[in-house]
Amino acid sequence: MKKGTKMAALMLAMAMMTTALTACGGDAKSSSTATDTTVTDSQPQDSAPADTEPAEAGTQEAAPEAGGTLTFGTNAEFPPFEFVTGSGVIDQYDGIDIAIAKQIAEKNDMTPAIENMEFASLLVALQNGQIDAAIAGMTVTDERKEEADFSIPYYTATQVMIVREDSDITSAADLADKKICVIEGYTGEICVKDMGYPYEAFKKGTDAIMELVNGKCDVVVLDSATSQKYISDNEGLKIVEDPSAFESEEYAIAVKKGNTELLDMINTAIDAMLTDGTVAELGAQYTEGLSAE
Ligand code: ARG
Repeated sequence: MKKGTKMAALMLAMAMMTTALTACGGDAKSSSTATDTTVTDSQPQDSAPADTEPAEAGTQEAAPEAGGTLTFGTNAEFPPFEFVTGSGVIDQYDGIDIAIAKQIAEKNDMTPAIENMEFASLLVALQNGQIDAAIAGMTVTDERKEEADFSIPYYTATQVMIVREDSDITSAADLADKKICVIEGYTGEICVKDMGYPYEAFKKGTDAIMELVNGKCDVVVLDSATSQKYISDNEGLKIVEDPSAFESEEYAIAVKKGNTELLDMINTAIDAMLTDGTVAELGAQYTEGLSAE
């Protein structure tokens, strides 16, 4: 009996894990196709109990007061969404996300601040109150929704394959016998892992790209807009897309679980910026001159 219960629990856990790992539909065996690519309100994707549990007591927190500082955490190694530059829109930080963060703060009479950290540290920093919100081209996944609450999505992306110009890779199925590079903790890593291929994970996008340029790996799986930036900065690279293998992903801002006051404030601001075209304009501004080939 006990053994059976344990087994059932294990199977349930495994089923839930599978759900969490299908953020990019990166299942080589599935025939799923990319669907809606427009920005819409996220729909609840399943009825996993973790999703419907109320926030734990004690995690309720308010938004900073008007006149105060709204601190966004990011990982500024993800152009065109966030990068370090001589003079950015918030201190030395610039990019689509940084411009959005600035406007969210200013719409609410707050001063925006950026804390730059490792991508993998962002959700922990939210939980321990080091930052108010995380804006980092962060894809909403079921797994992350267990650790943080997400705003309405503001950008739709997909994983693509960056290869050398002479590569014979034309679809995700061609990854089978290739040396694959990903960035640690990014959805690209989850996709490749989900497909069951071996890979090497790098700390930074630029490190993985260098590996590709130097011929030490055959392909980097990474978010679309960032990939376009890298191929325009590096000679001899191109992008291969495979929408049947990589579903669309949505970027949203994360707040501490239960911080509905701040989440509402952020949602109102994003909604306004989506409606009046600000987000689209910023997207165009920061990707100007970037092409897919
Ligand atoms: N969209 C991907 C993810 O959520 C990559 C995000 C990386 N962002 C960054 N600022 N480094 O996993």
